[in-house]
Amino acid sequence: MTKYQAPKGVSEYFPPRSNLFEFVREQLIAPAKLAGYSLIELPVFEDTELFERGVGESTDVVSKEMYTFEDRGGRSITLRPEGTAGVMRSVIENNLDRGQLPVKLFYVGPFFRAEKPQAGRYRQFYQVGIEAIGYNDPEIDAEVIWVADAAFKSLGLSKYELQITSLGDAESRAAHRVELLKFLGKLPLDEESKKKAQLNPLRLFDDKRPEIINAMKDAPLLVNYLNKVSQDDFEKVKSILSDLNISYSVNPKMVRGLDYYTGTTFEFVHPMLGAQSGIGGGGRYDGLMNQLGGQDLSGIGFGIGIDRVLMACEAENSLQDLQPNLDLFIVPIGEGTKTHAFKLLSDLRRAGLKADLSYGDRGLKGGMKAADKSDAKYALVIGDDEVKTGLGQLKLMSTGESISSTLTPSAIAKIIGN
Ligand code: HAM
Repeated sequence: MTKYQAPKGVSEYFPPRSNLFEFVREQLIAPAKLAGYSLIELPVFEDTELFERGVGESTDVVSKEMYTFEDRGGRSITLRPEGTAGVMRSVIENNLDRGQLPVKLFYVGPFFRAEKPQAGRYRQFYQVGIEAIGYNDPEIDAEVIWVADAAFKSLGLSKYELQITSLGDAESRAAHRVELLKFLGKLPLDEESKKKAQLNPLRLFDDKRPEIINAMKDAPLLVNYLNKVSQDDFEKVKSILSDLNISYSVNPKMVRGLDYYTGTTFEFVHPMLGAQSGIGGGGRYDGLMNQLGGQDLSGIGFGIGIDRVLMACEAENSLQDLQPNLDLFIVPIGEGTKTHAFKLLSDLRRAGLKADLSYGDRGLKGGMKAADKSDAKYALVIGDDEVKTGLGQLKLMSTGESISSTLTPSAIAKIIGN
């Protein structure tokens, strides 16, 4: 055992898998940029109260999973367990909601939840998230879902499923709450469940104990209590998704792990990931901004778990065609060639090629072995002859084919680019 180990339950990425992680992260961001979302870079810690108020005290996230500590100034600080509350705090604090609406933001980075670690569930994990704040409009709901769906498709994923439901507006939820509490009142619930039911009765749909799952079978469903406005909105969202060829199923028992959701709510699940199958989820939040001291504006967004999406890509074997890490690996042979090779290397890098060199004095055999291991697309040996003539052979590593080239950055770039 090594002397120091990573803390329990964190995800770490190092080469070669970190290349895949980076690729997945960028692909998840790309459709958000296409849809006009701009980066928001936020602190990884905030005042504890922000999450207590924003995420909700009935949630596992707030009640048992936060990394909370007192800083040196005696303030209660929490490592962010999710992104939406922080985004909302920043939007309010920096008046981003006083300009053009909707405010469209994306973020990416580490999040922290003190969960029981298992495959796909980490204490430090990574999310790409987006938030569109300002309007309650079914087109925006569909756009947010489209962004996630487009990202998954661009990664070659095909086996994930989209589940959606509507948690309705305040009036619909109030009507349902009355009936649900009546129903729950007749069940022999333990003290903890009763407390949960008071804070947020919908949480009982998420209880994993078989007796509760069984008892909840006939519980009244919120989708059946939607008023006309909520019902129409939900129908519109579904119809736009169909127009966009995004398939979905309605899951009226879906309960998200955070309390702020209203209206359209969704989850992407991947059936090949076992128990931790949620690769992304989100929804609309009508009251959150107001609750945190801002205007009464609605918003919608999602968080996608990069760790889990990478696992899904691996399960589906969808990243096979990923470009090699390097375009070219140069092997200098003999005294005096290295300086020449290094100059060419830096010119190639300046021209935008990913290139590296066999360092140390490894000779031809050792140098070619290094080229092989580097996973480069091409290798180029530079010896005295090549320096003298300015000509060389680019070896395509996948087939062994050699292509003659003038040893100038533009000529090499032309061959490699083809
Ligand atoms: P969430 O469902 O709690 O939503 O998390 C979003 C995604 O993060 C999950 O679907 C999952 O892929 C990943 N994730 C969550 N916890 C872990 C973990 N312990 N280990 C690995 N991956 C994890 C939110 O966080 C909301 N802020 C999403 C949102 C944005 N809703 C509206 N706007």
